[in-house]
Parts: sequence; C-alpha cells; structure tokens
Amino acid sequence: MSKKILVSGVAGFIGSHLVKSLHALGYEVAGCDKVDPQTGLGGIHDSAEPVLARLRKERLAACVTQLGVKYFQIDIGQADAFASVVAQWQPDTVVHLAAQAGVRHSMQAPMDFVTPNLVGFAHVLDACHRLQVPRLLYASSSSVYGMRSQVPFVETDRTDQPQSFYAATKMANEMMAYAYHSQYGMASLGMRFFTVYGPWGRTDMAPFMFAQNIRRGLPIKVFGEGKLRRDFTYVDDIVEAITGLVARPEVVHGAEIVNMGHQRPVEVNTFIELLARHLNRQPVIEYAPMQVADVPLTCASEDRLVGMLGSWRETPLDTGLEHFVKWLQAWDPMD
Ligand SMILES: NC(=O)c1ccc[n+]([C@@H]2O[C@H](COP(=O)([O-])OP(=O)(O)OC[C@H]3O[C@@H](n4cnc5c(N)ncnc54)[C@H](O)[C@@H]3O)[C@@H](O)[C@H]2O)c1
Repeated sequence: MSKKILVSGVAGFIGSHLVKSLHALGYEVAGCDKVDPQTGLGGIHDSAEPVLARLRKERLAACVTQLGVKYFQIDIGQADAFASVVAQWQPDTVVHLAAQAGVRHSMQAPMDFVTPNLVGFAHVLDACHRLQVPRLLYASSSSVYGMRSQVPFVETDRTDQPQSFYAATKMANEMMAYAYHSQYGMASLGMRFFTVYGPWGRTDMAPFMFAQNIRRGLPIKVFGEGKLRRDFTYVDDIVEAITGLVARPEVVHGAEIVNMGHQRPVEVNTFIELLARHLNRQPVIEYAPMQVADVPLTCASEDRLVGMLGSWRETPLDTGLEHFVKWLQAWDPMD
C-alpha cells in the first residue's frame, strides 16, 4: 500500500477535499500549490478576484494548516521547483491536480494554459521519472472527447479533435505520460474528470456562478438554451475514486487512462431547476447561443473505473446539490 503521498493543486477545489480524505485515512500526505496560504493569492491577476482568494485561503486553512499537513508553495512552471519537493518528501504516489482549469477561460486566454498545463506537467512527469516515484496519478478531463454524440464515452474512443485549447493541453498530458511510459516504463494513470461539483467548488464553474446569481435575483447566462447535457459528478465520489486508486497501486502499471463520471448526463436546465429548488428561489434565465468550445454532451462509461475499484459510490445529483447549497449558504450568508 502507498504510504507517502504528494498532492499538487491543494489550494484547489478537488485537491483540498482529497488531502483531507487522505489525511483521515492515515496517509502521510504533503501538498503543493502556487497559492500563498496567508493571502490566498497565487498569480498576478488574483487580487482582482477576492472571492477566489478567500476560497483558496480557507481551503488551505482547512486541508493544510488545521491538519498540520506539510505544504510547499511552488510554481510547477519553474524548472526544478516540483523536483525539489519530490526530493524532500519522497512520495511513493504523486497525485497531480495543479493546472489552469476551465474550457471557457481557454477561449479568452489560451496562453494562460501553456506554462502550468504543458511546461508544468512536463516538470512533474520528469521529476517523477528522475526521482523514481513509483506512480503518478494526474488530472485529465472529459473535454478530451470533444464533440461526440455516441454514448457513453469510452476510454478507447478517439480523442484527437479537441474543441478547446484547454482540452488540447489535457490530451497533450496523456500523450506525454504515454511517451514517458514508452521511453522509461513509467507508471501513470490519467483521470478524466467529468464536471465535478460540490462544497468549496470553483467560482468559474456553473454551479457556483448560477447559485450566487440566483440567490441575488440576478440573471444567469445559459448557453445552448440549457439543452447541453453534463455528467455532473459529486466531489466526494471523485475523492473516493482517487483514494481507492491510491490504495491499489497494482492497478497503475502502464500509461493508463480512466473516466471518472457516472454515465448519467443531465440537461443544464434540469440542473438549474434542482439548484433553484434547493435555494428556494426562482432563477432568471438568459439564454445565449452555444459557444464554440462547448460540447453538447458528456457521458462517461464508468466500467473501467468500477473494474479497478470493484465498486464506486454514486451521490445522486439532488443530494449533492443539497450539500452544496447548505455549504454555500453557510460560507456566504446573504439572506
Ligand atoms: N473541477 C472539474 O470539474 C474538473 C473537470 C475536469 C478536469 N479537472 C482538472 O482537475 C484538476 C483540479 O481541478 P479543480 O477543479 O480542483 O481546479 P482548481 O482551479 O480549483 O485547482 C487547481 C489548483 O492548481 C493550482 N495551480 C495552477 N497553476 C499552478 C502552478 N503553475 N503551480 C502550482 N499550482 C498551480 C491553482 O492555484 C489551484 O489551486 C485540474 O487539473 C483540472 O484541469 C477538473
């Protein structure tokens, strides 16, 4: 069993949940991120986003400071920064989640993705190889499937037609990991997350943005007439899958890929209806045309993951949204 884990991106949504869970399970866990735990700031534009800074600062307080977890503040884009953390911590599993996320953001600023997602990923990969980390689990994305109508999405489907630069960086990561396996026999597992939501969620994602606007009586902008369908996946399900994989090192041997989604796509309109019901408010919806980088549907085959884990929990959307809304109302009381 793995004992020492290093998680990158711990100031982030999924990373902060994961570290808490790994710590509770008794692992020796360390985390790294570019974010300053005192301020929540991690980049030159971050001071313009005080809500994001508060969220990151409080995530770090909860998953690092309060638990006494070792934290390394580094930028993975800088040569040797990640390698020096690996050299100090000597993990037997790295879970790499640090990245610039967001399909929509990659339409506005694709260059923001180059250093963290391509250069940074190469640094992580190379450090794991040179310092002989036995296995690397890293975040990929459902976006690699691009524009597909055939469901469910299976790991062997073609993924060479990305609809966004973000998706292209995630696809590139999978190919880089494959090359390190071919060249050096490095063991890795790319986890294709499908629209993760829940408490401490990302401010740039629909659940957070929609909920805050609905609570304030402000309009929400919904693309593609709300007919886009997404395989929404509750964050605890994702964390359970990752911890399950960490506990089973034997399942990570080649350059593997696995979906993390439940094969239960829901229309965005239905999602909004459920969310508004939990918020006890009427949404004001402004429909907008589908955006270029948008895909009409995501739907994961979960067979491979279930084969690896034996079984996998599924939190119903209604329950997940109830937890999310409770958290949001406590985190940002406005009533
Ligand atoms: N949340 C989702 O629905 C979803 C879906 C598919 C894939 N993913 C992927 O999962 C991973 C985690 O996603 P998340 O939702 O927690 O995102 P997040 O933005 O909340 O977390 C990412 C973290 O990475 C850190 N980071 C970014 N650039 C860095 C750098 N150069 N050096 C060090 N740290 C850096 C950020 O500060 C942030 O704390 C990402 O790789 C993302 O692309 C997420």
